[in-house]
Amino acid sequence: MHKWILGALSAVLLALAGPAAAQAPIIIKFSHVVAPDTPKGVAAEKFAELAAKYTDGKVKVEVYPNSQLYKDKEELEALQLGAVQMLAPSNSKFGPIGIKEFEVFDLPYILPDLPTLRKVTDGPLGARLLKLLEPKGMVGLAYWDNGFKVMSANKKLLAPADYHGLKFRIQSSKVLEAQFRALGAVPQVMAFSDVYQALQTGVVDGQENTPSNMYTQKMHEVQKYTTLTNHGYIGYVVVVNRKFWDGLPPEIRDQLTRAMKEATAFGNARSAQENAQALEQMRKSGKTELVTLTPEQDAAMRKAMAPVYDDVASRISKSLVEDFRKESGGTGQ
Ligand code: LMR
Repeated sequence: MHKWILGALSAVLLALAGPAAAQAPIIIKFSHVVAPDTPKGVAAEKFAELAAKYTDGKVKVEVYPNSQLYKDKEELEALQLGAVQMLAPSNSKFGPIGIKEFEVFDLPYILPDLPTLRKVTDGPLGARLLKLLEPKGMVGLAYWDNGFKVMSANKKLLAPADYHGLKFRIQSSKVLEAQFRALGAVPQVMAFSDVYQALQTGVVDGQENTPSNMYTQKMHEVQKYTTLTNHGYIGYVVVVNRKFWDGLPPEIRDQLTRAMKEATAFGNARSAQENAQALEQMRKSGKTELVTLTPEQDAAMRKAMAPVYDDVASRISKSLVEDFRKESGGTGQ
């Protein structure tokens, strides 16, 4: 009798646990290195919200900002190993895992504005580049914007000569390395999360980034001058672990694809505004002086960085650089 009651009880418990277990959501860990209130941060949150909505709660996206889980290089390794499922590293960060082609986006002055960028990312070249991710165990889902970069240091940067001998933090991109060498500066690869301290303690003298990244990491507080060069672009490739993605039920994949499409449109429509606001906050703070170049000074910067094209065209493929120029309407340097 006692046994019978126990048996019945466990049957009831199992029946109760059954549906609950079946409803346990699929977790997507989305790791990134920037603050939540940045173009990437808001797009990631939007994706999490829409993923829950379109899958009716079957998928839960957990967003981990500010290098909470992993720094730049580790996060790509973690994705390949399946420790996290989704990331949005900048184009500049795929070189160390053997995909140097995304560095084409780093070429100085190759993009005059965001609409031109969109022609490339939404066109055949954008699709071709995403395909390169698959043999590395990733699927590229979208291109997310940040924006155009400014240069900062404790010295006023007006002419190429002002860069001579200064140490600049760079992302892990050979194009960026060549860019600072062309200016006579000393580039130093460093994880994003270490930049503020490196600037504060003088491990490096300067850096380049978007206003949004500078402001949200408080870099402007330890850099006396910020020059609005707009010489290069920072944007992201949203990548998902391929095995995880291919293993999802097709209808879930479709719902997530829809969520990603809408989150991308949402984030990309706001990125320019986020950067403009960050720049305004930096100006208001009075901690860094915003410096604008005259057309002549701008021309001198472009001229100094022009050799980077020859230098890196052979590394990331000459035809890729040509295709990029063709698809973007040839408006770059
Ligand atoms: C950087 O390392 O400077 C940026 O790529 C960080 C980011 O993800 O925007």
